[in-house]
Amino acid sequence: MSVEKTLSIIKPDAVGDNNVGKILQRFEDKNLEIVASKMIRLSKEKAEGFYSIHKDKPFFNSLVKFMTSGPVVVQVLKGDNAIMKNREIMGATNPAEANEGTIRKDFAKSIDENAVHGSDALETAKIEIEYFFENDEICERTK
Ligand code: CMP
Repeated sequence: MSVEKTLSIIKPDAVGDNNVGKILQRFEDKNLEIVASKMIRLSKEKAEGFYSIHKDKPFFNSLVKFMTSGPVVVQVLKGDNAIMKNREIMGATNPAEANEGTIRKDFAKSIDENAVHGSDALETAKIEIEYFFENDEICERTK
């Protein structure tokens, strides 16, 4: 198993529902360390850039509108197998298909308002982390 970092976003629905703490707890409960975290409001340009891979999808405009509808909390999670582990903790993209006990099963309303985002691979994790965080904002544990 290798130690990885992954980008996680708590989306506007989950922030608005006051579920930030409960969601962060789930990461720590599975031995993922939060090595960077901040609450921000995405501009239209920042949201469009982040989701540029989806720019030709029919849901792109509504996705950007939703992601800019309220604050989000972005964090870097670190740990063994962090990318896949985070995806397991989140559950399926569509909460209707998410397993019991996952974040999306418990907190998401729909595929459009699905509580959290997580990187899907090593290369995208690196790009997504750099999209939101400078190197000196990532705080490796020293104790
Ligand atoms: P996320 O993991 O943040 O990546 C892209 C987002 O687009 C996804 O979560 C969903 O919230 C949203 N989305 C809306 N419709 C779809 C769809 N049909 N397939 C995949 N993602 C969708």
